[in-house]
Amino acid sequence: MQKLRKLPRPITFIYDDRMIYGLTNSKGGVGKTTIAVHLAAWLVKKKRTVIFIDADPQSSASQWINELDLDIQLEKLSEPEEIIRRVAELATDANDIVIDGPAGLSTTTRAIMLRSDRVFLPCGPSILDLRAASKAVVLLREAQKSRKGPPIGTIIPNKLQKRGRLSREMLGAAQKLGVPLLAGLSQRQSFVDAAGQAKVVWQMGASALVASHEMQQLMKEMTRG
Ligand SMILES: Nc1ncnc2c1ncn2[C@@H]1O[C@H](COP(=O)(O)OP(=O)(O)OP(=O)(O)O)[C@@H](O)[C@H]1O
Ligand SMILES: [Mg+2]
Repeated sequence: MQKLRKLPRPITFIYDDRMIYGLTNSKGGVGKTTIAVHLAAWLVKKKRTVIFIDADPQSSASQWINELDLDIQLEKLSEPEEIIRRVAELATDANDIVIDGPAGLSTTTRAIMLRSDRVFLPCGPSILDLRAASKAVVLLREAQKSRKGPPIGTIIPNKLQKRGRLSREMLGAAQKLGVPLLAGLSQRQSFVDAAGQAKVVWQMGASALVASHEMQQLMKEMTRG
């Protein structure tokens, strides 16, 4: 694994029910941005004040968040030290923070893990995808060790042929990793169309009812106390 540069140890802060959600993974194109943007929109729908941190230099989430025209404060941060410092400052300004990470096991990914309360690792539907995610789980364990507990890590299977139907091999491999799996999302065109239409799936009407239901179920699981 690539040698990562040292980061200052973050000061742990505890504020009532404030939650910092980090979306990361070693692999690209697994649904980090799609899920992060929906999570931010979902939290706003639940009357939470939300700050969205786009920590991916590709900035694909930023455009989508801006176009959604919801009350979400957007910050672009890509330097790991900036993430460590700024998230602590911003934590007093909102109920929740959602961080969309870049693909890869970079120092930025590690900074997100050092700052988040909950880390979600979206992952493709195959055993190979899960093996790739296991590299991110190594970083997660390091963060948990350094922080003596947090963040809570969870894998989100994405682009499933049938939602909730994970192969026995995949379930077995996830069990070995010791990271819980959510039911995840199936492969649906509506999730692709959402970004193009500058919407989230529950704003897309009848054409995206099933996708909307599925995404809202996922949001409930991700935000469950
Ligand atoms: N459940 C799904 N069904 C179908 N397409 C999906 C699903 N989830 C995401 N996609 C599509 O897969 C592509 C990658 O998704 P997304 O950009 O959210 O991934 P990412 O992990 O943020 O990628 P990157 O690492 O490049 O930032 C996008 O075209 C998105 O619309
Ligand atoms: Mg992305």
